[in-house]
Amino acid sequence: MHFQWYPGHMTKARRMMQENIKLIDLIIELVDARAPLSSRNPDIDELGRGKARLIVLNKADLADERSNDVWVEYFRAKGCSAVKVNSKKGGGIKSIQSVIQEACREKTERDRRRGIMNRPVRAMVAGIPNVGKSTFINALAGKACTKTGNRPGVTKGKQWIRLNKNVELLDTPGILWPKFEDQQAGLKLAFIGSIKDEILQTEELAAELVKFLEESYPGVLAGKYGIQESGDGYQRLEEIAVNRHCLVRGNELDTEKAAAILLDDFRGGRLGRITLETPDAGEV
Ligand code: G4P
Repeated sequence: MHFQWYPGHMTKARRMMQENIKLIDLIIELVDARAPLSSRNPDIDELGRGKARLIVLNKADLADERSNDVWVEYFRAKGCSAVKVNSKKGGGIKSIQSVIQEACREKTERDRRRGIMNRPVRAMVAGIPNVGKSTFINALAGKACTKTGNRPGVTKGKQWIRLNKNVELLDTPGILWPKFEDQQAGLKLAFIGSIKDEILQTEELAAELVKFLEESYPGVLAGKYGIQESGDGYQRLEEIAVNRHCLVRGNELDTEKAAAILLDDFRGGRLGRITLETPDAGEV
């Protein structure tokens, strides 16, 4: 799902988040494990002030396993609960319920001290488009859980998914808007397909990806496309075009198609597990 963000969309998304945040105890913030900082929303800290927070590094199957662990530690050191998951295949999903309990322990204990017993924890999933919110909710909800309708104590018009006797999840995720102001973040979001390719031309974007891969994951392009790894990004695209027989008008190289193939291979994990940023790249 791709979005064109206009100020009106952002205002609406923010208003929806503000409304829903009032109803919940815990924000489950989904980020893309390949770019955990760039795929975070800058405003979530302010919007979610006072709420328990769980950071889910989703699409962990596409990211470097060592980097996943580094990122989990990074967020934990910042005082957030953090886990890595693969929502598509269900990896890591089983442990989520106990992580949710853990993330809300302070709140549950506060309730208990006030004599409120067994009030379920209410949670909502939030994240920028395409980060995997729907897939995650489906994986978490599975088939076994029951949806709760409009019953006393449940806000009218809101659907909650009862995960177990202790946890209820809002069935619609909060959509957050991506970072626009930071060019480096924008580039990574374009690599992972979270913002439209039109931000940069496909070839320009692919040439940037080539540059990143050659610096950070040497050997990956050579292994996948049998090409040399030196020279500029556009030359590499030409070599990929040769390797993948991308031609237009007889035998002119179609570097635009080669660029699309490269981006598609990266997004689909066919270049291997790759992480685009490390914690020292910036602050949360
Ligand atoms: P959203 O609600 O946040 O917008 O995201 P959504 O769940 O629609 O997921 C966006 C894309 O990311 C989907 O791919 C989905 O399958 C994929 N995805 C979600 N979680 C994971 C994960 O943990 N690992 C991997 N590898 N992929 C994940 P799609 O191509 O749009 O759809 P489909 O062809 O997979 O159905």
